[in-house]
Amino acid sequence: MSKNNIKEHWNLIALEYQKKRKLSFADIEYAPGYARESELNLLGDVEEKRIVELGCGAAENSITLAKKGGICTGVDISLEQLKYAKNLIIENKVKIELIEGDIENLIMIDDDIFDIAISTFALDWMQDLNAAFKEAYRILKPNGIFVFSMQHPIYNLLGAEDLDLKELKISVSYFEKEVTFVESTGIDLRVHASKISDIINGLIRIGFNIENILEPKPLERDVIPHEERYQEIIEMIPSTLICKVLKVPK
Ligand SMILES: C[S@@+](CC[C@H](N)C(=O)[O-])C[C@H]1O[C@@H](n2cnc3c(N)ncnc32)[C@H](O)[C@@H]1O
Repeated sequence: MSKNNIKEHWNLIALEYQKKRKLSFADIEYAPGYARESELNLLGDVEEKRIVELGCGAAENSITLAKKGGICTGVDISLEQLKYAKNLIIENKVKIELIEGDIENLIMIDDDIFDIAISTFALDWMQDLNAAFKEAYRILKPNGIFVFSMQHPIYNLLGAEDLDLKELKISVSYFEKEVTFVESTGIDLRVHASKISDIINGLIRIGFNIENILEPKPLERDVIPHEERYQEIIEMIPSTLICKVLKVPK
């Protein structure tokens, strides 16, 4: 039920989201105002690598990687988001397989087939984050790389959806396991809320080797126009958590 709500929500806000989220096809942005993939080099050489993007939205990351020679597949639960992906793929003259699916249950994808999995700001929407980690692990080849970014659990404490930038307060308990909220679409949403330890322990228990954890502080050069207060907040607390993990063969 709630999974359908998430899907419906994303189908309804796809246009609004894509208008705001203008990503470049030159590089991958893991966090607002922070160093991009070309500087961080988390993925390594992607040429001829089989890459899956989990919760791909309009698939900008996949397009960027396909332009660099990656063989990409994008998965998203929202058909409306995938329509944007389809158009951008055509515009950019690249070849990317798109799958409409739930990244908590990727039954349509075989085991051990991808060299790299990437996900930006989709794991925030899970009902069971460990299920998504398990699926990422299963579909990666041994020693495969998984790089993801998600909203930082500390930032989540601000109840960021209706953030009043002038009166910041902790509005959610850090220990809450589930967050229920109503977004602009009026649809009730229920998502898994993770503590840092849930994320780290989840990855370890599933068999990932944690290689790098980044809690980016934005770089001055990227101050977002008219959003100075937001910029001040994300200079005090991390907005994003970036993890690079490796699938250790069992
Ligand atoms: C904030 S958007 C991020 C999209 C893209 N990765 C980006 O960085 O712009 C979250 C995306 O996750 C997708 N999503 C949410 N829950 C999902 C699930 N269970 N399986 C697959 N995709 C999901 C939504 O449809 C949406 O496209």
